[in-house]
Formats: sequence, C-alpha cells, structure tokens
Amino acid sequence: MNYSTILLAAGRGSRTNLDYNKVFYHLDTDRTVLDASLALFLDDEECRQIVLVCAPYELDYVQSNYSKDPRICFVAGGDTRQQSVCNGLDAVKEDYVFIHDAARPFLKPYSIYELKKTLEIEDACLLMVPSVDTVKLVEGGYVAQTLCRDQVYRAQTPQCFKTSLIQKCHEKAKNAGKLATDDAQLVEWYGKIPVRVVYGDEENIKITLPSDLIHD
Ligand code: CTP
Ligand code: MG
Repeated sequence: MNYSTILLAAGRGSRTNLDYNKVFYHLDTDRTVLDASLALFLDDEECRQIVLVCAPYELDYVQSNYSKDPRICFVAGGDTRQQSVCNGLDAVKEDYVFIHDAARPFLKPYSIYELKKTLEIEDACLLMVPSVDTVKLVEGGYVAQTLCRDQVYRAQTPQCFKTSLIQKCHEKAKNAGKLATDDAQLVEWYGKIPVRVVYGDEENIKITLPSDLIHD
C-alpha cells in the first residue's frame, strides 16, 4: 500500500510554554520531536512522499535541515490546523494519504502497519484509544450527561484516507466555513461513508502541555 504522509508542524506549540515551536524540542541529544516523527515515515518504504507542513516563517530553516531525502517536500501551513492540512493536500501525489501531527513522535511502526492494512478495505480510518476515565458533558458548570464509557474513545493521528475523499471533504468544509477538530470529523460531516476505528496505543501522545516534556 503506497501512500503520502502530510506531517503537520506548522503550529506554535503555545500550550507547552516553550519559547519556540514544540516540534523542535529535543527528546534527547540527537533527536527533536520532528526528527522522530519524520523518521517513522522515512523508515517505511511504502511511504512514497512526505509533505512537511511548516509555519511560513520556519519554512527556510526546515527546508535547509530536511531536504536530504527526495521524498520530502515542503509546504507553508495556515492559521488553523485545518488550513494547514488543506495546504498539504494540494501537494499530495499518492491515492492514499496519512495525516499525522508531528507533535506525536511516539507512534508505533506497528500502528502504521495496522492502518495500511485497514486502508486496503476502507477509505477512512484513524487511530483511537478507549477512554480510561469516565467522560461527562458539562453545561454551565453542572453535569448534563454521563457518556457510556464503553463507547468513548480518544482520537489520535495518523488519520488515513483515500486522497480524493478527504480532498472533497476539506473543500466542502472550506466552502461552508466550518472548522472541525480533526480530519475524521470532516468525513463524518461530508463523506457519506463510515470512519473505521483502528486501536492505537496510549504511548502515542500529542506533546501539548509542559508536563508532556521530558524534564531532567
Ligand atoms: N498545526 C499545524 N498548523 C496549525 C496548527 C497546528 O500544522 N495552524 C500542527 C502542530 O504543529 C501539531 C499538530 O498540528 O503538530 C497538532 O496541533 P496542536 O497540538 O494544537 O499544536 P500547536 O497548535 O502547535 O500547539 P498549541 O495549540 O498549544 O499552540
Ligand atoms: Mg493548536
């Protein structure tokens, strides 16, 4: 299963309280968050293209550091994650696309394998983990409803699609002026096909808060 990957690195990482974009945070002396997430896809020969989406003001820096592999191309991101994905989709060449947050460097190669297997029979799938906590809806400071815990899952990335399907869904959302919180939601709104759940791994966290950074 050949595919393209859109790797999203165009955020600011403001919630980490670092004074720079969290994707450049060093996990150890050799590797940044971006190095680690990029390596996961460079190590898979079926990933034929990586569209690395960067903030416009970081594009030159990223391009000069990562242009060694001919599979990588560079695209400027937008103000929202959805806009960044949209910009990336314009450059995608393969019939199937993985959309992944560069801020998730702990993705397992096994999960990539599982997603590829699923894409052979489904046009939309994503990694999810069951919620270990009970999740409640809250309105005005009071509990409105408790969701059935067996049915509550947390969405991760990669989220994987037939390219033409996710392109159409993004186009429709753009025209309607609607912002989703992930790409699978756009397929739920506009795709007319179900989105398949692939069981992910708790370790595939999105580095978001100061507590997600490694302190010594
Ligand atoms: N992202 C992006 N373009 C944006 C916003 C986010 O490419 N306009 C990317 C981020 O670089 C990150 C992923 O989308 O890899 C997930 O978003 P999030 O965790 O919210 O990252 P940031 O937006 O960078 O962080 P924050 O919201 O704390 O500023
Ligand atoms: Mg953000």
